Amino acid sequence: MSAPRPVDAPALAALVEAAQQVQKHAYAPASRFHVGAAVRTQSGRVFVGCNVENASYGLTICAERAAVCAAVAAGEREIVAVAIATDLVDPARPCGACRQVLAEFGIGMQLALVGRGGVRVDTTLASLLPDPFTFGDVLRGQQ
Ligand code: THU
Repeated sequence: MSAPRPVDAPALAALVEAAQQVQKHAYAPASRFHVGAAVRTQSGRVFVGCNVENASYGLTICAERAAVCAAVAAGEREIVAVAIATDLVDPARPCGACRQVLAEFGIGMQLALVGRGGVRVDTTLASLLPDPFTFGDVLRGQQ
């Protein structure tokens, strides 16, 4: 698979806006930590997710994984960029579990992390999760 073309600035800005909008729907009565995520797929479609907590705490779903599931359920499997919105001044980085799930659908993806006041950190999944475990490893184990 060739590296995807970089997502341009207006598309990234729209992705950030989508993440900020869906952050308003976060259901976080336990932590009060509201997260919104938006993923852009290779075809240019955008899917969103927010964190959804539960009285049985361990069942909590992170925003990023909710957005990935929405994309995959729509038949999209190549994610080129992700925006994640939180209320931290220094924007939150995605948790380890979400990094691993994102890696399944495009290690080359760009990340725009946005916090309170619109503070934005641009990075890549590869820099946050170098050398991920992949199905390539699973296949090697089957040989
Ligand atoms: N959370 C996310 O939605 N994404 C992350 O990458 C980190 C954590 C949520 C889970 C929980 O609802 C709240 O933030 C506090 O951990």
